[in-house]
Amino acid sequence: MNTQSMSINNKADADQLRILIVEDNQDDMEAFVEMLYMKQKYAWDFKRATHLGEALRYLKEDIFDVIILDLNLPDSTGFGSLNKIREAKPNIPIVVMTGLNDEKIGVLTIRYGAQDYLFKGQITADLFLRSVNYAIERQHLEQVKDDLIAYVNHELSNPLSIIKEGLSQINDGIKGPINEEQRQFLEITLESIDRLSHIAQTLLESTRLEFGKIQLNQEKCDLVEIVKSLMVSFESVAAHQGVVINVNFSSDVVKIDADRDRIIQVLTNLLTNALKFTQKGFIEISVVDRGHMVECSIFDTGRGIAPEDLPKVFGKYQRFGQYQGSRIKGTGLGLFICKQLIELHDGRIWVESQAGHGSKFVFQLPKKEGE
Ligand SMILES: Nc1ncnc2c1ncn2[C@@H]1O[C@H](COP(=O)(O)OP(=O)(O)O)[C@@H](O)[C@H]1O
Ligand SMILES: [Mg+2]
Repeated sequence: MNTQSMSINNKADADQLRILIVEDNQDDMEAFVEMLYMKQKYAWDFKRATHLGEALRYLKEDIFDVIILDLNLPDSTGFGSLNKIREAKPNIPIVVMTGLNDEKIGVLTIRYGAQDYLFKGQITADLFLRSVNYAIERQHLEQVKDDLIAYVNHELSNPLSIIKEGLSQINDGIKGPINEEQRQFLEITLESIDRLSHIAQTLLESTRLEFGKIQLNQEKCDLVEIVKSLMVSFESVAAHQGVVINVNFSSDVVKIDADRDRIIQVLTNLLTNALKFTQKGFIEISVVDRGHMVECSIFDTGRGIAPEDLPKVFGKYQRFGQYQGSRIKGTGLGLFICKQLIELHDGRIWVESQAGHGSKFVFQLPKKEGE
């Protein structure tokens, strides 16, 4: 049978599904084809690729409704295969075929952007078909959600920046003199506008992270240099609040393989929290090279977190206790975003805290072999 490119039904059929099967094992490939044949009521048109390079070429040339992907190919293995396909075509649903009967790996494939996964030894024709249809449906829903969020975000930010600009000009006296009461009123209004745009941005960011829509741009960088650069802006805010920030580095340079902007985002969230919840005392940032990984911690002598709240801090929309000192409330998404970003780097993040005495947020980033 010629499986290289095969049209089972008429191409003009509106319900015809165009499938790209990326599988180097001949037996597995034949098994998938058999299953498609068993379900004649569906119309198939499929192409077969035995290498990742070949698959990427087909994806450039043709349009597909779904991709069936074996992760281990002659020219690419593991999640690298999934990443490359996702990069090339972010919106085509993918069903991953894995030889390993390991639920953890299966769940990870979803995290890395697949819509469904199947264990090779357990596939039946019905299961295969259900999975393909489910993946297509899921991708469709994700797309609707993405479009909606992007639309709302875009439609919000434009008028918001116009409102902000207009009010700022009045506040600055550009449109004529204003009295003190009017100025105070405008300041509060401007704060709310900032908060609204911050919420819109944070919501978009956390949703994109949750659905695996963020790709890291990893490069060699120096965590000590990153912390030092952040200190420039945080030190003055802290001093204003009467809080000191100390730093503690295990060496002058601590190299990590990471997305610099994303690590800055994590540190900014953690430091903002430390400052927000610390009325007196100090904050200490440590960077320690532990050989096989790098550890960074942000300790504060603030109000701490109650034991019953500790397991929930990295969840979505979680906020505990009263906000003191700051009129601006948070979204409860900051730590959720931190956790997603650190885990994308294959690292981990946790918190140690004692209510009333302070908190210590710690994250670890693994080093690549040979570093
Ligand atoms: N350093 C800290 N000290 C005390 N409580 C904290 C600290 N960091 C976070 N928290 C608690 O965890 C909650 C969630 O934090 P986060 O996700 O950053 O949301 P937000 O800052 O928007 O409230 C905070 O509302 C606060 O109750
Ligand atoms: Mg926060």
